[in-house]
Amino acid sequence: MTSVCKFDDLVDGSAVCHNVDGVAVAIVRIGDDVHAIDDLCSHANVSLSGGDVWPDACTLECPKHGSTFSLTSGEPDTLPATVPVRVHHVSVVDGDVHVELSS
Ligand code: FES
Repeated sequence: MTSVCKFDDLVDGSAVCHNVDGVAVAIVRIGDDVHAIDDLCSHANVSLSGGDVWPDACTLECPKHGSTFSLTSGEPDTLPATVPVRVHHVSVVDGDVHVELSS
């Protein structure tokens, strides 16, 4: 479990990339919830955190070709990506966002 940032530094409805133990992770805040998925798109070498967050669908859209990835399952909802990205466990403790990398 690694402390990556302050909850208050996250902007509601947007994504930011943080290095967690050498892995680029997209941290996404939607309201009071924080999600963490691999920042690297499964389709090509593109940073997902540069894309749009869709709060109602709880997805993050790849800025390159537009696949939307579920922030809860990591599955791409739309082509061209077909391979899921990893979802990482997030907890907020005393205002600090902690991320535990999935295997
Ligand atoms: S690089 Fe992400 S969908 Fe193509």
